[in-house]
Amino acid sequence: MANHNSNGVKNRPDTSRVRQAARELLAAVAEEIDEGALSPKAYERTLREIERLRGQPLFYRAVSGGTGSGARVRLADGTTRIDFISGIGVYGFGHSDPDLLETAVVAAAGDAVYQGHLFPGGEYLKLSKALLRHAGKQMKHVWLSISGSMANENALKLILQKHAPADRIIVFEGAFAGRTLAMAELTDRPSYREGLPLRGNVLHVPFFDPSDPHSIERSVAALEAHLKRHPGRVAGMLFELIQGEGGFNTAPREFFSALMECCRSAKIAVWVDEVQTFARTGELYAYRTFDLEEYIDVATVGKALQGSAVLFRKAYKPRPGLIAGTFAGSTVGLAVGARIIERLESDGYLGAEGRIAVLGRRFERRLDALRKRLSRQYRRMLGNRSDAGFCSLRRIRRNRNGDRARGVRRGRHGVRNGKQSIEDSHAASREHDRRRTRSGLYDARKSHSARRRGAGTLDLIEARRRICDRGRASTQDPCMKLPCSFNQVPNSSNTSGR
Ligand SMILES: Cc1ncc(COP(=O)(O)O)c(C=O)c1O
Repeated sequence: MANHNSNGVKNRPDTSRVRQAARELLAAVAEEIDEGALSPKAYERTLREIERLRGQPLFYRAVSGGTGSGARVRLADGTTRIDFISGIGVYGFGHSDPDLLETAVVAAAGDAVYQGHLFPGGEYLKLSKALLRHAGKQMKHVWLSISGSMANENALKLILQKHAPADRIIVFEGAFAGRTLAMAELTDRPSYREGLPLRGNVLHVPFFDPSDPHSIERSVAALEAHLKRHPGRVAGMLFELIQGEGGFNTAPREFFSALMECCRSAKIAVWVDEVQTFARTGELYAYRTFDLEEYIDVATVGKALQGSAVLFRKAYKPRPGLIAGTFAGSTVGLAVGARIIERLESDGYLGAEGRIAVLGRRFERRLDALRKRLSRQYRRMLGNRSDAGFCSLRRIRRNRNGDRARGVRRGRHGVRNGKQSIEDSHAASREHDRRRTRSGLYDARKSHSARRRGAGTLDLIEARRRICDRGRASTQDPCMKLPCSFNQVPNSSNTSGR
């Protein structure tokens, strides 16, 4: 029953019989998960046990229940939250996307849990080709790995080997590159490398400052000063086109192109870290959204890919032995990554007028409009919730496909990051109902009568989702409609989200 792709490489069987069996398995698993919600006490015990084993508290005090639906994720206690951080950028199509789950189940039903560079399979080839298909003419090679940090390690090694003995790397202030020893040094957060031995080879350039009319000149001058002070010693510059860790910062194309021109004149590598921006700006690669393709020598991707990779020009091909590693990725991760790219291509997500770009623009517009209507207290909630992650969803509702959203069995709610109590959440809801009535966004009486019927009320975040939903033709892929403010188009100014 195996089929073959255009290279004659054997793909995993994906006939309707196999898909049907996968669906049945998934339904059985979901049913059991549904029945197995933890009591509040057991849930708290689980949280505490995880924290004890880790030796430090969880950043978001939540334990996954193993299912979800689009933007909603079910916790182990049976409650449902809206995942506004998309699992830190990894659930591009939302939680429990049926097609991706089926792809995962089929991919998992084989001997190789992981695929290695010594013994790759069909999924490895399929994903490599899909990544290169969008990377532009100059990108000739791709090397798969498991985490964003590992892809960045490989990128750094390619760059250092090609430019040896140059060993300095230029990064932006506020940069984040990962958690390995080398990446902790490229990351502009001293607290992330406390106590670590440093090589001292990192030089900083200020990121774009929209309040400074001379921001571009200032950063270019800083770059040129480094190049002058370390002649022949700078190997490359690392670009994050949209910063995440340093705040949601981006810049107009001219900012990046001016710096990249400098790198090109100095013959140093232009390395773009797309671990976070991958598949989130309207193109697979943000450097294409920003029209910077001609400058890029090395690019790294991760997160939404369900694995990671470094892509590079021919000139950066490593000598044998420089990069390797036992694992290239889990078979499930490779298969799902390839399927994600396939769907982005075939379902109209990509391009300036594709679904990601259009919905991103709409989301920003409506969030701005909502922010104007809210009091300072709630404006702060909207503007600064990036530290909250999970937001409360306290209503059993039917989605537009007629399915009953799972969870909220015990009517427990409230933002679960320890910052907002259940009572606060009640008060917020009442205040918000009042405002929605005034602004015509939502009829609070409906919500109160629904509450009397035992259905609970919509909360602030749900209202926000409804606003975003208005006018949408389709209800598919709700997470894609709730981008984490990454759909920034080129030439727009900084939209710091923090
Ligand atoms: C820009 C950027 N680079 C690298 C990484 C590291 O990726 P990982 O956590 O998969 O190692 C991240 C993760 O947040 C990131 O945002």
